[in-house]
Amino acid sequence: MKKKMGKKIVSLTLTAMLGLSLAACGGGGSASDDAGSGDSGETAASSDVANKDKPLVWFNRQPSNSSTGELDMAALSFNDNTYYVGFDANQGAELQGTMIKDYIEANIDGLDRNGDGVIGYVLAIGDIGHNDSIARTRGVRKALGTGVEKDGEINSEPVGTNTDGSAAAVQDGEIEVGGKKYVVRELASQEMKNSAGATWDAATAGNAIGTWSSSFGEEIDIIASNNDGMGMSMFNAWSKDQEVPTFGYDANSDAVAAIAEGYGGTISQHADVQAYLTLRVLRNALDGVDVDTGIGTEDDAGNVLSDDVYVYNADERSYYALNVAVTADNYQDFTDSTKIYEPVSAQLDEGAHASKKVWLNIYNASDNFLSSTYQPLLQNYDKLLNLEVDYIGGDGQTESNITNRLGNPGEYDAFAINMVKTDNAASYTSLLSQ
Ligand code: BGC
Repeated sequence: MKKKMGKKIVSLTLTAMLGLSLAACGGGGSASDDAGSGDSGETAASSDVANKDKPLVWFNRQPSNSSTGELDMAALSFNDNTYYVGFDANQGAELQGTMIKDYIEANIDGLDRNGDGVIGYVLAIGDIGHNDSIARTRGVRKALGTGVEKDGEINSEPVGTNTDGSAAAVQDGEIEVGGKKYVVRELASQEMKNSAGATWDAATAGNAIGTWSSSFGEEIDIIASNNDGMGMSMFNAWSKDQEVPTFGYDANSDAVAAIAEGYGGTISQHADVQAYLTLRVLRNALDGVDVDTGIGTEDDAGNVLSDDVYVYNADERSYYALNVAVTADNYQDFTDSTKIYEPVSAQLDEGAHASKKVWLNIYNASDNFLSSTYQPLLQNYDKLLNLEVDYIGGDGQTESNITNRLGNPGEYDAFAINMVKTDNAASYTSLLSQ
């Protein structure tokens, strides 16, 4: 563990001046770990910093065009201390698809429940305008050979019902196991959006499996879901009793526990690393240190991440955690999704890293992943990083429900934002620019 606390040579004035401007300068690590010793214990927001210059992190929903996926670089580079924290959607999507394909190959005996030579699956889609959801739909279709190209990418549109294999947005795939060929068919897929507009809606997924199973239940051999919230709803409503494996995403604790009862598997998006990064980039900007502090470079408390758990893309100003497949083979290691990641679990010294106030919103207070995994993790890390965070829960449908509660940005030192719709970054940045 590196100790740099000995060389407190930066004067208070200089510390204050450096405070919010140094972090994004890339190489500016020198004044770093020495800064901020003067105002320990103070929690009031720095009144001399304009809101538009305060550190800002987008997380979980990357500012981007919801139709094309193109990144909103204006939002991602709103100021020098703006970043996005999420996970590598393509790497995770590929893992999810491969996990399902591997399962089919390893468990082919008895998997084709009605013996018609077709491995049928249904797919629960979270949000057709969310790049994470789109990537997962593509990942499953790619691995199972059911994807159809559209504009150079795999089509991610829902097909509705496709029991006869005639839908244009997918095709029948083929898989050969033990010398025998099987057709793989996406029997049905649907965006799980409720009538009020909430996406990734678990209850809608539970209803959908009810409808699908009552008309073509014996054809369903596998369930794939863009996340565990919807996957568990389908598992509990139908597939557990039928012993039909369901595959989700997120590694929420309840889904991991369900693997012992026949849930097929899930993907950990390393929320423990993401929650840390979300708050850590703010902490670093507030301390005026290099953004890599406590991330790729060990901090004064010994916190550091290894490069097998995240990547940083400087052009996109984005940190992406890496995903891990969680199956019957390894689920015992993932039973508590709210447990902080040990290599970054050391408490920062409050003298050197004074308490600061952060405004943070969760776009949908009832989203399974965000409420049962991500927010509890944030709440574990905020204390370690000496951040006093106000958690605002949205209704998952309207941006204004959240932006209305950002009426007093001057009271905060930094902001962490989880948008309802990825196109809507300007609804927030305009409030910070006033
Ligand atoms: C998670 C979903 C969640 C969504 C919310 C995704 O990364 O996998 O479970 O509903 O984020 O934006």
